[in-house]
Amino acid sequence: MAKPRLWITRKLSDNTEARARRDYDVILNPDDTLSTADDIVRMSAEVDAILPCHSEHFNASVVERLDARLKIVANHSVGVDHCDLDALKAKNICVTNTPDVLSDATAEIAMLLLLGAARRAVEGDTMVRQGEWDTWSPSFMVGSQVSGKRLGIVGMGRVGQVMAKRARGFDMEVHYYNRTRLSPANEQGAVYHDDLPSLLAQSDMLSLHCPATEQTKGLMDRAAFAQLPKGAILVNTARGALIDESALLEAIESGHLAAAGLDCFVTEPGGNPAFAKHSNIMMLPHIGSATFDTRDAMGFRALDNLDAYFANREPKDKLV
Ligand code: DGY
Repeated sequence: MAKPRLWITRKLSDNTEARARRDYDVILNPDDTLSTADDIVRMSAEVDAILPCHSEHFNASVVERLDARLKIVANHSVGVDHCDLDALKAKNICVTNTPDVLSDATAEIAMLLLLGAARRAVEGDTMVRQGEWDTWSPSFMVGSQVSGKRLGIVGMGRVGQVMAKRARGFDMEVHYYNRTRLSPANEQGAVYHDDLPSLLAQSDMLSLHCPATEQTKGLMDRAAFAQLPKGAILVNTARGALIDESALLEAIESGHLAAAGLDCFVTEPGGNPAFAKHSNIMMLPHIGSATFDTRDAMGFRALDNLDAYFANREPKDKLV
């Protein structure tokens, strides 16, 4: 039987590509070029499956033009805000994602940003690197300690729960807001808040771990920042769209927010140049899941979903 024809839109890990070459009639992208909407539409007539990243947008206008040959979009990401799921479902195109496998890596980056923002890592690194470190005193570079502080987690899914575990390792008191309350076994002593304002008021430090949806876009707006205690620290490793970046800037410039750690921005790639003059904003270029182990695991999980689909089984991570 002919192997299904698969387009992998970006350069993935060597192990992922080797497995895809073995099992599929695969079109790879060794130069890792970005695809346009027209490329996606054109390729949909040439393949049975696409394995994209969050950099390829399947919005309603693209989906409308997709060829009937395309049967499945097997994402190499847990977030699927780049896909219009309703439009894909209406075209009977199966969509999967890669949950679980990036939770450890993403929580590590969230912890790095939390510690870096709290302990002034950008300012300290810049000072030493630029040869400007010429003093030391007990009042020099004093930051906030995370141990003993209350960490608020917005979105207690897989990544949020790993973040809670890491935070407990730093003796933080974990609070969370989630659509549904976790079981006591999964809560592990975390304090549940049934609305966001209640969580914000209790969060010395806040970490965002929910998906970007119509309901959560702009969740951290001016009113939300005002509800945080003065001197709070914000970390975002989920999606840039969760934050109103002008409101974040105002909160930093007024001193209401002591610091922030961001791995995600409204504009990606690129970020927000207005943040660059603030050394109390630690920034990374959306690398939450960028570890060797996790890249293999994400690629394999996407291929597992494709394998199931083409074997007429329900893919484990089928969204629509
Ligand atoms: C994800 O999986 O959603 C990460 O943000 C990388 O795309």
